[in-house]
Amino acid sequence: MSTTHRTALVTGATAGIGRAVALALAEDGIEVIAQGRDRERGAQLVKEIGALGGRARFETADLSDAAEVSALAATAGPVDVLVNNAGVYELTSTPDTSAASFDRHFAVNTRAPFLLVGALGPGMAERGHGAIVNITSSGATSPAPIGTAYSASKAALELLTRSWATEFGPRGVRVTGVSPGPVRSAGTTAMLGENVEALGRVNLRQRIGEPEEIAAVVRFLLSDAASYINGTIVLANGGEPSALAA
Ligand SMILES: NC(=O)c1ccc[n+]([C@@H]2O[C@H](COP(=O)([O-])OP(=O)(O)OC[C@H]3O[C@@H](n4cnc5c(N)ncnc54)[C@H](OP(=O)(O)O)[C@@H]3O)[C@@H](O)[C@H]2O)c1
Repeated sequence: MSTTHRTALVTGATAGIGRAVALALAEDGIEVIAQGRDRERGAQLVKEIGALGGRARFETADLSDAAEVSALAATAGPVDVLVNNAGVYELTSTPDTSAASFDRHFAVNTRAPFLLVGALGPGMAERGHGAIVNITSSGATSPAPIGTAYSASKAALELLTRSWATEFGPRGVRVTGVSPGPVRSAGTTAMLGENVEALGRVNLRQRIGEPEEIAAVVRFLLSDAASYINGTIVLANGGEPSALAA
C-alpha cells in the first residue's frame, strides 16, 4: 500500500483490467474515480466498491474525443494516481485498417494518456508526489502481422512512459508501465469467444492471464514497496519466448 496516494483516476474501469485495478486500489483505501462510457457498468462498479467499504465515483467520457479527455481531467481534479488503462484493439492487417481505425487507436491508446498526463502530471509534480501507470501491451515490443496500428499506438505509449519519467521523475512522480500478454476480458472474449483460451497457449505459463493478475502488478507499482522503480515497463505475460530472447 501507499502512504501518500489518496485518489486515483482509472480509465477504462468499466471492464476487464481497469475494473480489476479499480477494485484493487479501492481495497487499498484509495478513492477511485472510475472512467468509462458504459454508465450501467460504471454504476455497478461504484456500488460494488461501496459494498466492500471503499470509495469510488464514476465519470463518463469518450476518450477518442480530445475535448472530453480534457473535461475528464478537469472533473477528476487533482489526483495522486493516474492509471491509463482504457484501450481499443482492432486486430486487422495493415491493408484492412482504415484511417478511422488507425486514428481511433492513437486517439484512445496514446493521445488520451498524453492529454491526461499533461493536465494532471504538473499538479503531482507541484505537490512532490504522485504515480502514473500506463497499461501497454506485449504488442508494443513483439512484432505481429496483424494489429499493427494497435501495436504502434502502444509502442508510442511505452516511449511516452519513459519520457514522462524523465519529465516528472525528478519532482517526485513515478511513471511506469505494465505490458500484459493475453488477458481474459470483456474485449478479448467479445473478439474471440471460447477461442480466447488459445491466446495463452504460446506463453510459458501456457494459459491466458486474468485481469486480477495485471491489477496485482499495478497495485505493486503504486505501492511504497515500488518506491525505487521509475520509467520501467513490467512485462506481465506469462513469459513470452520471443521477449525472453530480447
Ligand atoms: N486483454 C488483453 O489481452 C490485453 C493485452 C494487452 C494489453 N491490453 C490492454 O489493457 C487495457 C485494458 O484491456 P481490456 O482487455 O481489459 O479492456 P476491455 O475489456 O476491452 O475494456 C476496455 C475498457 O476501455 C474503455 N474504453 C474503450 N474505448 C473507450 C473510449 N473511446 N472512451 C472511453 N473508454 C473507452 C471501455 O469502456 P466502456 O466499455 O465503458 O466503453 C472499457 O472500460 C487496454 O489498454 C488494452 O490495450 C489488454
